[in-house]
Amino acid sequence: MKEGKTKTFFVCGNCGATFHKWLGQCPECQDWNRIEEQEKPSPSRLPSGYSGAIAPVQPMSQVNLTSAPRISTGMSELDRVLGGGLVRGSVVLIGGDPGVGKSTCLLQVCCRLSEEIKVLYVTGEESPQQIAMRANRLRLPNQHLLLMAETQVENICATALQEQPQIMVIDSIQTMQTATVSSAPGSVSQVRESAAQLTHFAKLNNLAIFLVGHVTKSGDLAGPRVLEHIIDVVCYFEGNSDSRYRVMRAVKNRYGAVNELGVFAMTENGLKEISNPSAIFLSRLSEPMPGSAVMVIWEGSRPLLVEVQALVDESHAENPRRITVGIEQNRLIMLLAVLHRHGGIATFNQDVFVNVVGGVKVSETGADLPILLAITSSLRDKPLPTDLIIFGEIGLAGEIRPVPNGQERLKEAAKHGFRRAIIPKANAPQEKFPGLTVFPVEKLTDALAAISDQ
Ligand code: TYD
Ligand code: MG
Repeated sequence: MKEGKTKTFFVCGNCGATFHKWLGQCPECQDWNRIEEQEKPSPSRLPSGYSGAIAPVQPMSQVNLTSAPRISTGMSELDRVLGGGLVRGSVVLIGGDPGVGKSTCLLQVCCRLSEEIKVLYVTGEESPQQIAMRANRLRLPNQHLLLMAETQVENICATALQEQPQIMVIDSIQTMQTATVSSAPGSVSQVRESAAQLTHFAKLNNLAIFLVGHVTKSGDLAGPRVLEHIIDVVCYFEGNSDSRYRVMRAVKNRYGAVNELGVFAMTENGLKEISNPSAIFLSRLSEPMPGSAVMVIWEGSRPLLVEVQALVDESHAENPRRITVGIEQNRLIMLLAVLHRHGGIATFNQDVFVNVVGGVKVSETGADLPILLAITSSLRDKPLPTDLIIFGEIGLAGEIRPVPNGQERLKEAAKHGFRRAIIPKANAPQEKFPGLTVFPVEKLTDALAAISDQ
């Protein structure tokens, strides 16, 4: 009898829950009469022996932490995005629109690094002549960088195995193909399989690989995000064509924090780093303009002063337009609803355009309040003071919520000569900030009243 008990157990046929005894109703899924008796697999019938080899296991405390030294790329802004430099054996994807400067950036990095370590630059897009001419024009050291024009992944791996570079660049992953997949180069399966093979090669041979990836119109890397789980670091290079500033941001980083920004300027002599970018995104017009507001956003570990511009214009369309550059369109729609419901300001018969100056993409909620105040300023044709900075998140109930690092944002604004600040009440400093008059606001109506008084 006792033996029989241990040999069987009861399983619910509906939800799979297991019990020691039979029950009429399953306590998990409440289904009736589905619980059945089943025999326990006896130990002798458990599958014994797998064909695989036994892999070593080790306590976590004994894992060697010093085996991942970082290589500095020679560009501190790029190092910052990578989390403190390039890790051996890691694969870094640099994505961005065509012409944003991916090849230029990597060429500068590789030429400089090739003076100390072996670097192989594999090009599938430009010819070695084009690359050499560019390096020449930018007066980069060209003695040691190895170039290869090749698109077949198998050939690249075989060459790399012989040459043993410590860093390899693949420009671009969309031009690569592997014999294991029959579809055309640039197709999702080719891109994924090529990236997977190169990643495997990087791990096996402990070399760092930069993959260049083009972004499609919708903003995805070609092949909808198929690469992101394969590789270690995914960086996007952003910037619009009418601005010379370029921003690099990590969206995934297995070796560091994400959302750390690297800021560069594209000049006639190549890409230059901007190590103190806090005030470059201000247009600094001499006279105040309606529809313009300066906000302090927090990116990675740095504050950035950024100007946001709004234009509100009478609409004759059935559906008035809501057009955004640098912020999410849905966020604007939501903010306009809050402005109407809690601020009593209607825009249903107005087109609203919002632009973040300098091609920065702002995803931070601290931009909510400055966006709405810029819109109000444009609607009323009344400029905001030029020495005013604003930040704060707006909730659906019209409340102004605090944002992280309030004190540091205020400090940065004061450093750049701003005299007034409209900020969330919960971010208000305990003591007076020298030279800065702070207007803490709790609700949207408080903020609207504060700008009317200015
Ligand atoms: P590139 O690095 O070729 O872009 P990607 O590889 O991302 O497609 O950059 C090309 C753009 O950069 C091109 O439009 C011209 C500009 N540029 C400069 O303004 N100055 C320079 O010194 C270089 C090399 C490029
Ligand atoms: Mg290129």
